[in-house]
Amino acid sequence: RLQRSELAVPGSQPGMFRKALESEADYIFLDLEDAVAPGDKPQARLNVIAALQEHDWRGRGQTICVRINGIDTHYMYRDVVDVVEQAGHRLDTILIPKVGVPADVYLVDALLSQIEEAKGIPHRIGIDVLIETALGMANVEAIAQSSQRLEAMHFGVADFAASCRARTISIGGLNPDYPGDQWHAGLSRMVVACRAYGRRPIDGPFGDFKDPEGYTLAARRGAALGIEGKWAIHPSQIGLANEVFTPDAQNPITILYVGDASKCDPQSDGNNSAADAPRFYAFNKVSKKALNNGQPSDSRKAALEAVRAAATACRTNPLPVVVPCHRVVRSDGSVGGYVGGLAAKQTLLRLEAA
Ligand code: GLV
Ligand code: MG
Repeated sequence: RLQRSELAVPGSQPGMFRKALESEADYIFLDLEDAVAPGDKPQARLNVIAALQEHDWRGRGQTICVRINGIDTHYMYRDVVDVVEQAGHRLDTILIPKVGVPADVYLVDALLSQIEEAKGIPHRIGIDVLIETALGMANVEAIAQSSQRLEAMHFGVADFAASCRARTISIGGLNPDYPGDQWHAGLSRMVVACRAYGRRPIDGPFGDFKDPEGYTLAARRGAALGIEGKWAIHPSQIGLANEVFTPDAQNPITILYVGDASKCDPQSDGNNSAADAPRFYAFNKVSKKALNNGQPSDSRKAALEAVRAAATACRTNPLPVVVPCHRVVRSDGSVGGYVGGLAAKQTLLRLEAA
């Protein structure tokens, strides 16, 4: 998945759902946790279920996630059971807050397995976790290995600061008493754990949404460490995150040529690029599908699936097919593609403008 921007949407504010749906965020999380007051939790749960059933988030190429309440609350079991039973077939991931030990993830994983089987949910729902307590950070390497479903770890700077009793001035901002970035150590440790075990590292909130420059600087510090995306707690932060975290910002999109109807090879490894395709047909649907079906953190597999699906499709399609993707240079020096829904859309727009 592309996870440059994670838009937080309170489950208690259904009026914000449509705007989120129409936003350019790569990833939307409907929040049942901290953005929702205790008395509003049951209604927020109903709103979130309705939002999943009524809106086609995935059809827009967005990842749709629900942040449940922590496993130390009595809301959490009903969050998982009600949301996943009633709308799990339309849900990509669950975000678990305040994960402290691997068993916290195991609990949610086991519930998901049972509900998926009982309800015949055809896809595997992913898990993202928030590392935002001292205990979670102390166990971050073990948590990174806790579940096959685990896709990404998010650094929740607000709760992390509270848990460490750090002196903060604004959420995710710098404290001038510290000579540098006081979040660096935690963020860096989480990045290393993610990279060691194949998860995506994501940075959390920057509270002062009237300070776009501060947001961008924080995002760039994270990107320098290997962070892949950052939360947006306000729609104005989405574009800032997308800009900083677009892979290979100098050369954001390359086009992976698949071939025309006569030449296409469903076994293609996707490396046979050809800039001279006579006509372009941006295969938006295919790349989105591959993105959603692709194994988490396995961009090569997602890209190959897209290429194969496109190659199969173009047998019955007279036009040449291109799969827009981000360029990935692998450790052995070979070049491949990371297929993203928004990348596909941007390329389509670019081609239309050309
Ligand atoms: C996010 O949940 C945070 O605590 O920063
Ligand atoms: Mg938090």
